[in-house]
Amino acid sequence: MRSCNLKTTIHFEGNALARLATLEYKKVFIIADPFIVSSGLIKSVTKHLESAHIEYKVYSDVVPDPTIDKVVLGVTALLREMSPCLIAVGGGSAIDLAKCVRLFAHNHHSDYAPHFIAIPTTSGTGSEVTSFAVITDPKKNIKHALIDDFLLPDEAILDVEMVKSVPASVTADTGLDVLAHALEAYVSTEADYFSDMYAEKATSLCKHYLVRSYNYPKTHENKARDKMHVASCLAGIAFNSVSLGICHSIAHQLGAQFHIPHGRANAIVLPDVISFNSGIYENTFALENPAPCVSKYATMSRRIGLAGYDDIACVKALAFYIRSMQIEMGMPISVRDAVPSLTYAEYESKLSSMAEAALLDRCTKTNPRVPTKEDIIKILKKIW
Ligand SMILES: NC(=O)c1ccc[n+]([C@@H]2O[C@H](COP(=O)([O-])OP(=O)(O)OC[C@H]3O[C@@H](n4cnc5c(N)ncnc54)[C@H](O)[C@@H]3O)[C@@H](O)[C@H]2O)c1
Ligand SMILES: [Zn+2]
Repeated sequence: MRSCNLKTTIHFEGNALARLATLEYKKVFIIADPFIVSSGLIKSVTKHLESAHIEYKVYSDVVPDPTIDKVVLGVTALLREMSPCLIAVGGGSAIDLAKCVRLFAHNHHSDYAPHFIAIPTTSGTGSEVTSFAVITDPKKNIKHALIDDFLLPDEAILDVEMVKSVPASVTADTGLDVLAHALEAYVSTEADYFSDMYAEKATSLCKHYLVRSYNYPKTHENKARDKMHVASCLAGIAFNSVSLGICHSIAHQLGAQFHIPHGRANAIVLPDVISFNSGIYENTFALENPAPCVSKYATMSRRIGLAGYDDIACVKALAFYIRSMQIEMGMPISVRDAVPSLTYAEYESKLSSMAEAALLDRCTKTNPRVPTKEDIIKILKKIW
């Protein structure tokens, strides 16, 4: 038997934040990204609480890629208030911090389980609908992916007002994260009807709206940002039930070691992981026993309108299209582009430990092709 669980209630379109004015709690604890607070965007959230006479406290000790010590500080702050409702407002970093804070506060006080609402302010991680949280151990330079049902938000609010201020470069990074989630879920060893459906729609929205959303600061086209916000959530639903693959396992290493933003790291790795999984490289024109993921990648390629006369050409088109989108959005396409201060000698000295950590990453288990340590090192060398 297999199960597909969709627990989070998703509010979207037309003033979705107004849902907050209907909450029946007297007190709310908000964990918010510091930019959301300093820019005043937080008022789009708090004004609804004020209109409903709900008391609130805003906590914003949030850093990109939240660390274990920040979780400890957050748990102390939340337990001081014991609010019956917790709202996370921010990108994946703020939402993941809030998820871990809530989990560890609950572990401390087993009868404390605040109602949990996630309001994403980036269109990327899909964290608002996942049971995942990524936490960084800065001493060991490791990113741990936690998976626990208790991490899943009760409600998610997708309101385009919260993502209009996202800079173009963050839009590009986070948008490629959406694409990586959708494609990794699509070829996951656990992929099923449900995850395929969400992954296909998310990928198609990325194809039509990611670059337009990147251009928003010039065009002010709300529609593209709105669509990417939904795409991010759909991709989150897809990977939440069937997990991811080695693109994420490797990206987690690049993030932990060199602080490459999560989506940017995925973007650098994704085309090479498609080649590795499918066995299709630039010079591949025939395959004797194509892996099952070849037809999946080719199907996705056709669904989003990329041309190709056979499956091999379609898979090549998909990898090529991802690279060309990155270039169109001015993204680095190699590690040395992303971290200009890094020397190859320094990078090389970390290849072995990064490959070992990637093999142990929870996302590796569902990759369509089982990699060896040497395979991961080969990919890491290719993306240098
Ligand atoms: N839990 C999951 O399912 C999951 C999935 C993928 C990634 N992650 C994790 O999420 C984190 C990355 O999240 P992210 O990509 O959303 O980035 P982020 O939350 O780190 O935010 C990136 C930057 O954008 C800024 N920002 C956020 N919202 C903004 C807005 N509306 N306007 C202007 N600036 C804004 C932030 O201040 C920050 O500087 C990583 O730690 C990653 O490992 C989690
Ligand atoms: Zn991701």
